[in-house]
Amino acid sequence: MIPNIKAPEVVQSIQWKEDHLRIIDQTYLPRREFFLDIFEVGRVWEAIRALRVRGAPAIGIAAAYGVYLGVKDLPEDDMQPFHIDVEGICEYLATARPTAINLTWALDRAARLAREMENEPVAKVKEALLELAKSIHEEDKRICADIGKIGQELIPDVAGILTHCNTGSLATGQYGTALSVIYHAHLGKKNILVWVDETRPLLQGSRLTAWELEKTGVPHRLITDSMAAWVMKEKGVDLVVVGTDRVARNGDTANKIGTYGLAILARHHGIPFYVAAPVSSIDFNVASGKEIPIEERDASEVRAIGKQQVAPAETPVYNPAFDVTPHKLITAFITEKGVVKPDFEKNLEKIRPRQD
Ligand code: MRU
Repeated sequence: MIPNIKAPEVVQSIQWKEDHLRIIDQTYLPRREFFLDIFEVGRVWEAIRALRVRGAPAIGIAAAYGVYLGVKDLPEDDMQPFHIDVEGICEYLATARPTAINLTWALDRAARLAREMENEPVAKVKEALLELAKSIHEEDKRICADIGKIGQELIPDVAGILTHCNTGSLATGQYGTALSVIYHAHLGKKNILVWVDETRPLLQGSRLTAWELEKTGVPHRLITDSMAAWVMKEKGVDLVVVGTDRVARNGDTANKIGTYGLAILARHHGIPFYVAAPVSSIDFNVASGKEIPIEERDASEVRAIGKQQVAPAETPVYNPAFDVTPHKLITAFITEKGVVKPDFEKNLEKIRPRQD
């Protein structure tokens, strides 16, 4: 039985404001809560690329609004060029970041809707694309609330929980995925302590997750990534819960770089390792993690922390933004359709949406 708990409203990280998109620019956090107003599709692309808006579900939502911003001023007298432009805009937005499947999932929905309406007046198609973006946004809030309610049942009444990156209201429509589980456990009066990995190179853990947990009053301790093994050994970590950018059909899971290492550590210490994932993060078109494209980002992100240089200016760098955790290291997926345990190939298939 899922209890009906009101999850905290940390921040509306994405908002639609009549004719434009407003996002909290996450690159300024935690120093400043700066809201960015976006009127053009090119600025949506840039915001996704620069991680002003980030987290797999959030970039899907932002991209869906981006499609509308891209089409809203197109001429309405000729259908054919309009439809070519919609396809082009979707392809363009998909190039912003390669790993999170939610981006292409949202864009595919927009492109498909436009195709289905190819005989309708252009003005009507534009309106429908805006409505689609709003409904993807609202749907994500409901999905995240359900993930939280379902996932909190896995949390002991007294628990140490380790998490990585940021998977909260900033990364989704609201509440988050892994953080929604944590919020719901907290609101259900469980006695939890959250160990927050700082998540180098871009510090989503320390800049964003610690900020969210502080705002919502969830007890937490920030640690550097290199402390995770010791904390598991010495401090009573009962479970690890993380989010994901893309899950393959066999359960292999791409998530923020460092996740794979945590899964190995959790296995070594006999700690359950959960992945909180909306069904939209499962890519049924890829068989295993080998097929998931891993984004590599600029060397400057590793050579510096913020504006502070921490390495020789020309030091060669490898900077993958994500890694893939093999499915064998995952205890279960927490989805809005329920908890999915191994055999993942078989059991993920059972929650596959009919139209994929
Ligand atoms: O590079 P980022 O900050 O977009 O990476 C985000 C993550 O890896 C999250 O864990 C993932 O998107 C899940 S968010 C609910």
